[in-house]
Amino acid sequence: MAKAADFIPQKYSKTLESGSFTWSAPSNIALVKYWGKMEDQIPANPSVSFTLNNCKTVTTVSFSKKEDGAEFSFDLLFEGQPKEDFKPKILKFFERTVDYLPFLKDFHFTIDTKNTFPHSSGIASSASGMAALALNFMSIEKLLNPEMTAEYFNQKASFLARLGSGSACRSVKGKVVVWGKHAEIEGSSDLFGVEFPENIHTHFDNYQDTILLVDKGEKQVSSTIGHDLMNGHPFAERRFEKAHENLSKLKTILQNGDIEEFIKIVESEALTLHAMMMTSLPYFILMKPNTLEIINKIWKFRNETKIPVCFTLDAGANVHVLYPENVSVEVLQFIQDELVGYCQNGQYICDRVGDGSQLIMNN
Ligand code: PMV
Repeated sequence: MAKAADFIPQKYSKTLESGSFTWSAPSNIALVKYWGKMEDQIPANPSVSFTLNNCKTVTTVSFSKKEDGAEFSFDLLFEGQPKEDFKPKILKFFERTVDYLPFLKDFHFTIDTKNTFPHSSGIASSASGMAALALNFMSIEKLLNPEMTAEYFNQKASFLARLGSGSACRSVKGKVVVWGKHAEIEGSSDLFGVEFPENIHTHFDNYQDTILLVDKGEKQVSSTIGHDLMNGHPFAERRFEKAHENLSKLKTILQNGDIEEFIKIVESEALTLHAMMMTSLPYFILMKPNTLEIINKIWKFRNETKIPVCFTLDAGANVHVLYPENVSVEVLQFIQDELVGYCQNGQYICDRVGDGSQLIMNN
Protein backbone atom coordinates (compact mmCIF):
# COMPACT_ATOMS: atom_id res chain seq x y z
CA MET A 1 0.00 0.00 0.00
CA ALA A 2 1.31 3.46 -0.90
CA LYS A 3 2.58 5.63 1.94
CA ALA A 4 3.23 9.36 2.03
CA ALA A 5 6.98 8.64 2.26
CA ASP A 6 6.82 7.00 -1.21
CA PHE A 7 6.41 10.50 -2.63
CA ILE A 8 9.62 11.88 -1.13
CA PRO A 9 12.03 11.82 -4.06
CA GLN A 10 15.52 10.36 -4.11
CA LYS A 11 18.31 12.61 -5.31
CA TYR A 12 17.43 13.97 -8.77
CA SER A 13 19.50 12.81 -11.74
CA LYS A 14 19.24 16.11 -13.70
CA THR A 15 19.61 19.83 -13.04
CA LEU A 16 17.52 22.67 -14.45
CA GLU A 17 17.86 26.41 -15.11
CA SER A 18 14.48 27.62 -16.33
CA GLY A 19 11.36 26.66 -18.23
CA SER A 20 7.61 26.79 -18.23
CA PHE A 21 4.58 24.50 -18.37
CA THR A 22 0.86 25.02 -18.77
CA TRP A 23 -1.70 22.53 -17.49
CA SER A 24 -5.45 22.62 -17.44
CA ALA A 25 -7.35 20.74 -14.74
CA PRO A 26 -11.11 20.37 -14.43
CA SER A 27 -13.47 20.82 -11.56
CA ASN A 28 -15.28 17.72 -10.29
CA ILE A 29 -18.66 17.03 -8.75
CA ALA A 30 -18.91 14.48 -5.95
CA LEU A 31 -21.62 11.80 -6.10
CA VAL A 32 -20.66 10.37 -2.70
CA LYS A 33 -19.48 13.35 -0.69
CA TYR A 34 -16.30 13.96 1.25
CA TRP A 35 -17.26 15.82 4.41
CA GLY A 36 -15.02 15.42 7.44
CA LYS A 37 -11.29 14.94 7.54
CA MET A 38 -8.27 14.15 9.64
CA GLU A 39 -4.91 15.91 9.53
CA ASP A 40 -3.37 16.63 6.07
CA GLN A 41 -6.62 16.23 4.18
CA ILE A 42 -6.97 12.55 5.01
CA PRO A 43 -10.67 11.99 4.37
CA ALA A 44 -12.95 10.62 7.08
CA ASN A 45 -14.79 8.62 4.39
CA PRO A 46 -14.26 7.65 0.75
CA SER A 47 -15.88 9.71 -2.00
CA VAL A 48 -16.45 9.40 -5.75
CA SER A 49 -16.89 12.10 -8.36
CA PHE A 50 -17.59 12.80 -11.97
CA THR A 51 -14.82 14.79 -13.57
CA LEU A 52 -16.19 17.84 -15.39
CA ASN A 53 -15.21 18.90 -18.87
CA ASN A 54 -15.79 22.63 -19.27
CA CYS A 55 -15.24 24.12 -15.82
CA LYS A 56 -11.46 24.23 -15.68
CA THR A 57 -8.48 26.11 -14.35
CA VAL A 58 -5.59 26.75 -16.74
CA THR A 59 -2.30 27.48 -15.00
CA THR A 60 1.13 28.34 -16.37
CA VAL A 61 4.11 27.93 -14.07
CA SER A 62 7.39 29.50 -15.23
CA PHE A 63 10.51 28.84 -13.22
CA SER A 64 14.06 30.16 -13.10
CA LYS A 65 16.91 29.09 -10.86
CA LYS A 66 17.72 31.43 -7.99
CA GLU A 67 20.83 31.72 -5.83
CA ASP A 68 19.44 31.73 -2.34
CA GLY A 69 17.56 28.52 -1.56
CA ALA A 70 16.36 29.57 1.90
CA GLU A 71 12.87 30.90 1.14
CA PHE A 72 10.00 30.36 -1.29
CA SER A 73 9.82 32.96 -4.02
CA PHE A 74 6.88 33.34 -6.39
CA ASP A 75 4.63 35.81 -8.16
CA LEU A 76 0.97 35.06 -8.54
CA LEU A 77 -1.05 36.35 -11.48
CA PHE A 78 -4.75 35.86 -12.07
CA GLU A 79 -5.69 36.34 -15.72
CA GLY A 80 -2.32 38.01 -16.22
CA GLN A 81 -2.70 40.53 -13.38
CA PRO A 82 -0.97 40.34 -9.96
CA LYS A 83 -3.38 38.95 -7.37
CA GLU A 84 -2.02 39.36 -3.85
CA ASP A 85 -5.03 37.85 -2.08
CA PHE A 86 -4.44 34.44 -3.72
CA LYS A 87 -0.85 34.30 -2.44
CA PRO A 88 -1.45 32.95 1.09
CA LYS A 89 -3.19 29.86 -0.33
CA ILE A 90 -0.29 29.20 -2.67
CA LEU A 91 2.24 29.77 0.09
CA LYS A 92 0.40 27.20 2.19
CA PHE A 93 0.57 24.78 -0.74
CA PHE A 94 4.35 25.32 -0.94
CA GLU A 95 4.73 24.73 2.80
CA ARG A 96 2.63 21.58 2.76
CA THR A 97 4.36 20.07 -0.28
CA VAL A 98 8.02 21.10 0.10
CA ASP A 99 9.01 17.78 1.72
CA TYR A 100 7.80 16.05 -1.43
CA LEU A 101 9.06 18.71 -3.87
CA PRO A 102 12.47 19.67 -2.44
CA PHE A 103 13.24 21.86 -5.47
CA LEU A 104 10.56 24.40 -4.50
CA LYS A 105 13.10 26.67 -2.77
CA ASP A 106 15.62 26.50 -5.64
CA PHE A 107 13.56 28.47 -8.16
CA HIS A 108 11.60 31.66 -8.51
CA PHE A 109 8.15 30.79 -9.89
CA THR A 110 5.65 32.87 -11.80
CA ILE A 111 2.22 31.30 -11.54
CA ASP A 112 -0.38 32.63 -13.95
CA THR A 113 -3.82 31.14 -13.55
CA LYS A 114 -7.29 31.59 -14.99
CA ASN A 115 -10.63 29.81 -14.84
CA THR A 116 -12.93 29.00 -17.73
CA PHE A 117 -15.94 29.59 -15.51
CA PRO A 118 -16.97 33.04 -14.33
CA HIS A 119 -15.14 34.35 -11.29
CA SER A 120 -17.34 34.47 -8.18
CA SER A 121 -19.90 32.17 -9.79
CA GLY A 122 -20.03 30.30 -6.51
CA ILE A 123 -18.20 27.43 -8.24
CA ALA A 124 -15.18 26.58 -6.14
CA SER A 125 -11.97 26.83 -8.10
CA SER A 126 -9.87 25.24 -5.37
CA ALA A 127 -10.17 21.71 -6.80
CA SER A 128 -9.25 22.62 -10.38
CA GLY A 129 -6.74 25.25 -9.23
CA MET A 130 -4.79 23.01 -6.87
CA ALA A 131 -4.81 20.14 -9.37
CA ALA A 132 -3.44 22.37 -12.16
CA LEU A 133 -0.72 23.67 -9.85
CA ALA A 134 0.27 20.19 -8.67
CA LEU A 135 0.50 18.94 -12.28
CA ASN A 136 2.82 21.79 -13.24
CA PHE A 137 5.15 20.93 -10.37
CA MET A 138 5.09 17.29 -11.41
CA SER A 139 6.13 18.29 -14.93
CA ILE A 140 9.07 20.14 -13.41
CA GLU A 141 9.94 17.15 -11.24
CA LYS A 142 9.80 14.94 -14.32
CA LEU A 143 12.52 17.08 -15.92
CA LEU A 144 14.64 16.48 -12.82
CA ASN A 145 13.83 12.77 -12.80
CA PRO A 146 13.04 11.65 -16.37
CA GLU A 147 12.77 8.00 -15.33
CA MET A 148 9.52 8.69 -13.49
CA THR A 149 6.61 6.49 -14.65
CA ALA A 150 3.28 7.89 -15.82
CA GLU A 151 1.58 6.09 -12.93
CA TYR A 152 3.85 7.76 -10.36
CA PHE A 153 3.36 11.12 -12.09
CA ASN A 154 -0.43 10.93 -11.82
CA GLN A 155 -0.52 9.47 -8.33
CA LYS A 156 1.86 12.05 -6.98
CA ALA A 157 0.05 14.90 -8.79
CA SER A 158 -3.14 13.77 -7.08
CA PHE A 159 -1.32 13.36 -3.74
CA LEU A 160 0.04 16.93 -3.95
CA ALA A 161 -3.31 18.34 -5.09
CA ARG A 162 -4.89 16.72 -2.01
CA LEU A 163 -2.47 18.56 0.24
CA GLY A 164 -3.64 21.80 -1.42
CA SER A 165 -7.37 21.09 -1.17
CA GLY A 166 -8.78 17.63 -0.46
CA SER A 167 -11.21 17.17 -3.34
CA ALA A 168 -8.60 18.52 -5.80
CA CYS A 169 -7.07 15.04 -5.80
CA ARG A 170 -10.12 13.90 -7.81
CA SER A 171 -9.31 16.38 -10.62
CA VAL A 172 -6.24 14.76 -12.15
CA LYS A 173 -7.21 11.77 -14.25
CA GLY A 174 -10.26 9.74 -15.20
CA LYS A 175 -13.96 10.33 -15.83
CA VAL A 176 -15.00 8.85 -12.49
CA VAL A 177 -12.56 9.14 -9.61
CA VAL A 178 -12.58 7.48 -6.20
CA TRP A 179 -10.67 8.99 -3.30
CA GLY A 180 -10.40 7.31 0.09
CA LYS A 181 -9.80 3.73 1.08
CA HIS A 182 -12.79 1.50 0.31
CA ALA A 183 -12.78 -2.26 0.77
CA GLU A 184 -14.34 -2.97 -2.64
CA ILE A 185 -12.46 -0.47 -4.81
CA GLU A 186 -9.15 -1.88 -5.87
CA GLY A 187 -6.20 0.44 -5.43
CA SER A 188 -8.25 3.05 -3.53
CA SER A 189 -6.26 5.19 -1.13
CA ASP A 190 -6.72 7.99 1.37
CA LEU A 191 -3.63 9.63 -0.12
CA PHE A 192 -4.74 10.20 -3.72
CA GLY A 193 -7.61 9.73 -6.14
CA VAL A 194 -7.77 6.72 -8.46
CA GLU A 195 -9.69 6.22 -11.67
CA PHE A 196 -12.78 4.08 -11.04
CA PRO A 197 -11.26 0.68 -11.81
CA GLU A 198 -14.29 -1.08 -13.39
CA ASN A 199 -16.04 -0.63 -16.72
CA ILE A 200 -18.63 2.13 -16.66
CA HIS A 201 -21.99 1.44 -18.30
CA THR A 202 -22.73 3.36 -21.50
CA HIS A 203 -25.72 5.02 -19.79
CA PHE A 204 -23.16 7.22 -18.06
CA ASP A 205 -21.26 8.12 -21.25
CA ASN A 206 -21.14 11.84 -21.63
CA TYR A 207 -23.39 12.33 -18.59
CA GLN A 208 -24.55 15.94 -18.42
CA ASP A 209 -24.18 18.39 -15.52
CA THR A 210 -25.93 21.73 -15.86
CA ILE A 211 -24.93 23.96 -12.98
CA LEU A 212 -27.64 26.37 -11.92
CA LEU A 213 -26.09 29.44 -10.30
CA VAL A 214 -28.54 30.17 -7.52
CA ASP A 215 -26.28 32.23 -5.34
CA LYS A 216 -22.96 33.55 -6.48
CA GLY A 217 -22.03 35.16 -3.16
CA GLU A 218 -19.09 34.28 -0.97
CA LYS A 219 -19.43 30.93 0.76
CA GLN A 220 -20.94 31.30 4.23
CA VAL A 221 -18.87 28.43 5.52
CA SER A 222 -15.41 27.63 4.22
CA SER A 223 -14.92 23.94 3.56
CA THR A 224 -12.14 23.89 6.19
CA ILE A 225 -14.63 24.97 8.85
CA GLY A 226 -17.25 22.63 7.42
CA HIS A 227 -14.98 19.58 7.64
CA ASP A 228 -14.05 20.54 11.20
CA LEU A 229 -17.70 20.56 12.20
CA MET A 230 -17.73 16.80 11.65
CA ASN A 231 -15.37 16.41 14.61
CA GLY A 232 -17.61 15.47 17.49
CA HIS A 233 -20.71 15.73 15.29
CA PRO A 234 -23.46 13.56 16.82
CA PHE A 235 -24.14 11.72 13.54
CA ALA A 236 -20.59 11.60 12.19
CA GLU A 237 -19.79 7.92 12.69
CA ARG A 238 -23.00 6.73 11.06
CA ARG A 239 -22.52 9.17 8.21
CA PHE A 240 -19.01 7.89 7.52
CA GLU A 241 -20.30 4.28 7.44
CA LYS A 242 -23.13 5.35 5.15
CA ALA A 243 -20.65 6.83 2.67
CA HIS A 244 -18.92 3.42 2.50
CA GLU A 245 -22.28 1.74 1.90
CA ASN A 246 -23.31 4.26 -0.76
CA LEU A 247 -20.00 3.85 -2.57
CA SER A 248 -20.49 0.07 -2.60
CA LYS A 249 -23.92 0.53 -4.14
CA LEU A 250 -22.70 3.11 -6.62
CA LYS A 251 -19.89 0.78 -7.68
CA THR A 252 -22.52 -1.72 -8.84
CA ILE A 253 -24.76 0.96 -10.35
CA LEU A 254 -21.97 2.51 -12.41
CA GLN A 255 -21.37 -0.92 -13.93
CA ASN A 256 -24.97 -2.02 -14.49
CA GLY A 257 -26.31 1.37 -15.65
CA ASP A 258 -29.31 1.44 -13.26
CA ILE A 259 -30.08 5.16 -13.39
CA GLU A 260 -33.08 4.91 -11.07
CA GLU A 261 -30.84 3.60 -8.29
CA PHE A 262 -28.15 6.12 -9.24
CA ILE A 263 -30.62 8.95 -8.64
CA LYS A 264 -31.53 7.63 -5.17
CA ILE A 265 -27.92 7.49 -4.00
CA VAL A 266 -26.87 10.82 -5.53
CA GLU A 267 -29.80 12.85 -4.22
CA SER A 268 -29.59 11.22 -0.81
CA GLU A 269 -25.86 12.05 -0.62
CA ALA A 270 -26.52 15.71 -1.48
CA LEU A 271 -29.24 16.05 1.14
CA THR A 272 -27.17 14.18 3.72
CA LEU A 273 -24.28 16.62 3.20
CA HIS A 274 -26.64 19.50 3.94
CA ALA A 275 -28.26 17.61 6.80
CA MET A 276 -24.81 17.29 8.39
CA MET A 277 -24.40 21.06 8.19
CA MET A 278 -27.84 21.68 9.63
CA THR A 279 -27.17 19.37 12.57
CA SER A 280 -23.67 20.52 13.50
CA LEU A 281 -22.84 23.09 16.15
CA PRO A 282 -22.78 25.83 15.03
CA TYR A 283 -25.41 24.91 12.41
CA PHE A 284 -25.81 26.27 8.90
CA ILE A 285 -28.36 26.28 6.12
CA LEU A 286 -26.51 26.72 2.86
CA MET A 287 -29.49 26.11 0.61
CA LYS A 288 -31.48 29.16 -0.46
CA PRO A 289 -35.23 29.24 -1.04
CA ASN A 290 -34.54 28.93 -4.78
CA THR A 291 -32.46 25.78 -4.19
CA LEU A 292 -35.56 24.13 -2.72
CA GLU A 293 -37.80 25.48 -5.48
CA ILE A 294 -35.49 23.89 -8.05
CA ILE A 295 -35.36 20.56 -6.21
CA ASN A 296 -39.15 20.42 -6.06
CA LYS A 297 -39.46 21.30 -9.75
CA ILE A 298 -36.98 18.58 -10.67
CA TRP A 299 -38.94 16.01 -8.65
CA LYS A 300 -42.23 17.08 -10.25
CA PHE A 301 -40.77 17.02 -13.77
CA ARG A 302 -39.22 13.59 -13.17
CA ASN A 303 -42.48 12.22 -11.82
CA GLU A 304 -44.55 13.53 -14.68
CA THR A 305 -42.23 12.79 -17.59
CA LYS A 306 -40.25 9.78 -16.25
CA ILE A 307 -37.15 11.51 -17.62
CA PRO A 308 -34.28 10.47 -15.32
CA VAL A 309 -32.97 13.85 -14.25
CA CYS A 310 -31.66 14.43 -10.73
CA PHE A 311 -29.70 16.93 -8.68
CA THR A 312 -26.70 17.15 -6.46
CA LEU A 313 -25.36 19.98 -4.33
CA ASP A 314 -21.99 21.24 -3.17
CA ALA A 315 -21.46 23.05 0.10
CA GLY A 316 -23.52 25.94 -1.23
CA ALA A 317 -26.83 26.93 -2.82
CA ASN A 318 -26.05 26.11 -6.47
CA VAL A 319 -27.71 23.06 -7.99
CA HIS A 320 -25.99 20.56 -10.29
CA VAL A 321 -28.60 19.02 -12.58
CA LEU A 322 -27.42 15.57 -13.72
CA TYR A 323 -28.92 13.64 -16.65
CA PRO A 324 -28.03 11.25 -19.48
CA GLU A 325 -27.05 12.74 -22.83
CA ASN A 326 -30.02 11.23 -24.68
CA VAL A 327 -32.51 13.40 -22.75
CA SER A 328 -30.53 16.64 -23.13
CA VAL A 329 -33.00 18.38 -25.41
CA GLU A 330 -35.95 17.78 -23.07
CA VAL A 331 -34.00 18.65 -19.91
CA LEU A 332 -32.50 21.85 -21.35
CA GLN A 333 -35.97 22.91 -22.44
CA PHE A 334 -37.26 22.21 -18.91
CA ILE A 335 -34.38 24.24 -17.44
CA GLN A 336 -35.14 27.13 -19.79
CA ASP A 337 -38.87 27.03 -19.14
CA GLU A 338 -38.96 26.32 -15.42
CA LEU A 339 -35.62 26.72 -13.66
CA VAL A 340 -33.79 29.69 -15.14
CA GLY A 341 -36.02 32.06 -13.18
CA TYR A 342 -34.51 30.73 -9.95
CA CYS A 343 -30.91 31.42 -11.05
CA GLN A 344 -29.13 34.64 -10.21
CA ASN A 345 -29.28 36.76 -13.37
CA GLY A 346 -30.65 33.68 -15.14
CA GLN A 347 -27.16 32.16 -15.22
CA TYR A 348 -26.27 28.52 -15.63
CA ILE A 349 -23.32 26.56 -17.00
CA CYS A 350 -23.63 23.52 -19.24
CA ASP A 351 -21.02 20.92 -18.45
CA ARG A 352 -20.59 17.17 -18.78
CA VAL A 353 -18.28 14.38 -17.75
CA GLY A 354 -14.73 14.85 -19.02
CA ASP A 355 -11.46 12.94 -18.97
CA GLY A 356 -9.31 14.97 -16.61
CA SER A 357 -6.31 17.24 -16.81
CA GLN A 358 -4.31 18.11 -19.91
CA LEU A 359 -0.80 19.32 -20.58
CA ILE A 360 -1.29 22.37 -22.80
CA MET A 361 2.22 23.73 -23.21
CA ASN A 362 5.70 22.58 -22.49
CA ASN A 363 8.60 25.02 -23.01
O1 PMV B 1 -12.02 19.84 -1.07
P1 PMV B 1 -12.76 20.64 -0.08
O2 PMV B 1 -12.07 20.75 1.24
O3 PMV B 1 -13.15 22.01 -0.63
O4 PMV B 1 -14.15 19.89 0.25
C1 PMV B 1 -15.13 19.63 -0.70
C2 PMV B 1 -16.38 19.19 -0.05
C3 PMV B 1 -17.59 18.98 -0.94
O5 PMV B 1 -17.48 19.67 -2.15
C4 PMV B 1 -18.81 19.48 -0.21
C5 PMV B 1 -17.80 17.48 -1.21
C6 PMV B 1 -16.86 16.83 -2.17
O6 PMV B 1 -16.61 15.62 -1.98
O7 PMV B 1 -16.39 17.47 -3.13
